[in-house]
Amino acid sequence: MLSLSYRLALHVLALLQISAALHVPRATTAVSVTLDGVTYVNQGLVGFGRIPSNFTESTGDTMGGIGSAIAIKYGSWQAQANGSFTGTLVVQPDRGYNVINTIDYQARRHELQFVLTPYYNATALTFAAAQKTFQLTYKNTTLEFERNSVKTSGLDPTAIRAAMAGAGTNPLADPQMPIASTAEPHLTVDAEGLIANADGTYWTSDEYGPYIYLFTGDGHLVQTIQPPAAILPLDSAGNLDFTSEDDPATGRGANQGFEGLTIDPATSTLYAILQSATIQDGALQYTRLLAYNVSHPSTAVPLIGEWIVPLPLSSKGKVEATSDIHFVSPGVFLCLARDGNGHGGSGDDIKYKHADLFSITGATDIHGTAFDTAGTPAAPKGKLSKSITPATYVSFVDYADDTQLARFGLHNGDPDDNTLLDAKWESLALAPVGDSAPNDFFLFTASDNDFLSTQGISLGVPYNAGEDVDNQFLVFRVTLPGAAAGVKKALGIV
Ligand SMILES: *[C@@H]1O[C@H](CO)[C@@H](O)[C@H](O)[C@H]1NC(C)=O
Ligand SMILES: *[C@@H]1O[C@H](CO)[C@@H](O)[C@H](O)[C@H]1NC(C)=O
Ligand SMILES: *[C@@H]1O[C@H](CO)[C@@H](O)[C@H](O)[C@H]1NC(C)=O
Ligand SMILES: *[C@@H]1O[C@H](CO)[C@@H](O)[C@H](O)[C@H]1NC(C)=O
Ligand SMILES: *[C@@H]1O[C@H](CO)[C@@H](O)[C@H](O)[C@H]1NC(C)=O
Repeated sequence: MLSLSYRLALHVLALLQISAALHVPRATTAVSVTLDGVTYVNQGLVGFGRIPSNFTESTGDTMGGIGSAIAIKYGSWQAQANGSFTGTLVVQPDRGYNVINTIDYQARRHELQFVLTPYYNATALTFAAAQKTFQLTYKNTTLEFERNSVKTSGLDPTAIRAAMAGAGTNPLADPQMPIASTAEPHLTVDAEGLIANADGTYWTSDEYGPYIYLFTGDGHLVQTIQPPAAILPLDSAGNLDFTSEDDPATGRGANQGFEGLTIDPATSTLYAILQSATIQDGALQYTRLLAYNVSHPSTAVPLIGEWIVPLPLSSKGKVEATSDIHFVSPGVFLCLARDGNGHGGSGDDIKYKHADLFSITGATDIHGTAFDTAGTPAAPKGKLSKSITPATYVSFVDYADDTQLARFGLHNGDPDDNTLLDAKWESLALAPVGDSAPNDFFLFTASDNDFLSTQGISLGVPYNAGEDVDNQFLVFRVTLPGAAAGVKKALGIV
């Protein structure tokens, strides 16, 4: 999430914008990239779907923010005889409609059934026809609770609850927890990453802690992972301060928490990535990827790896922060990195909206070193320490490819309507095409629309956000050698 004041400024800017910047069309460019000697191919866009901005879910709230995190439910992916694919997509909004203020929005997951009918023809579909390629049907919502079945909240964490020993249905100890206030001691969650486990539980990563939580299938918290001191938001006296209203002295920046979460199912290694570099690392491109061994998720889990990932920079030197990662094969990950332009964003000309690739094969593992403390930056003032070799990062899938978008009735640039690609793409999921092409996968990605609707309902109260931004979904077909074992195991495909 962006900070509230910045987001308000963006809305004002969008309103003030009289003439849009001239959009220079981008044709389909090179679609192959090589990383660690392996060639990966983007075969193009094959599906588009949407959930309208005013769609209401079973609690009575507007269904928004759902592209913050997506996961294909274990065992649900199926190839149909007619060439379509079906499955259940689990989607997780962040912290509710919060353009004005953060709200007491209980964390939740929704289940959507989908039918993907991949479209490969070069002939352009209309916007209406394009939506038949990826059809989504809402099924249900599971609300989330913390200790003692207390509802979680989306409010800004202004207070801290002391660490607690395990008890009852929460056998594991909790670290110090971000809570709304001392009067409202509810755990506050700004959920971003999501992993659907084979046993029906879910790992969720958050921006506030930034922590990683394990929830049962029916929405109860069972485990909390607290990252090392270098990542925790600490004030100048070294005390925790979880607020997202301003940056801490060290640790994750405000609204720059664990945006991405993924798992290597073969080794039960959970990976989480910070949206951008910590404050002490210059709050720019040198972000951190952390690995935890979750082979025994009902006990405290150890940190087993940590690497620096160099995110792309814009021509103006601004970081294209990451909104999600996805495990491809040992050492290799997809990385969603992007600007803030697009529908519902800060301008209509998208410059960078990518699913890229990076490898940590040759990178320095800094876990358990002085870089894990708050006092030793890995990239002082944004300059990487000479002792660290970062991950290797390559550009891959460009969402804003004009030729591909036009095939689905979509576009980049003027006009700013619902056929403009959304601004805030924040999630990735993979599923196999099948035996005919064992190295080919469908790459699913979805946008966070920030609940922007002129006909919204939040906590039962109607609101008008001044614009309508749908929840958009894109599906690409990509060739990812080496990914089959992990993708199949994660989805329960034998
Ligand atoms: C959403 O908006 C569309 C277009 O204005 C309208 O047809 C539809 O009835 C609305 N749906 C809900 C649930 O309000
Ligand atoms: C293929 O079958 C699925 C599942 O029965 C169905 O939902 C889908 O509409 C069919 N696709 C086409 C293109 O007919
Ligand atoms: C693409 O679609 C057009 C219009 O539906 C059709 O005429 C054409 O045969 C299709 N091309 C291929 C290669 O399927
Ligand atoms: C929610 O919907 C999914 C998909 O249809 C279904 O498998 C699941 O059992 C439903 N869960 C609840 C609690 O109804
Ligand atoms: C994870 O922990 C398990 C059980 O302690 C151990 O057997 C395994 O080797 C560990 N995996 C990694 C990648 O460290």
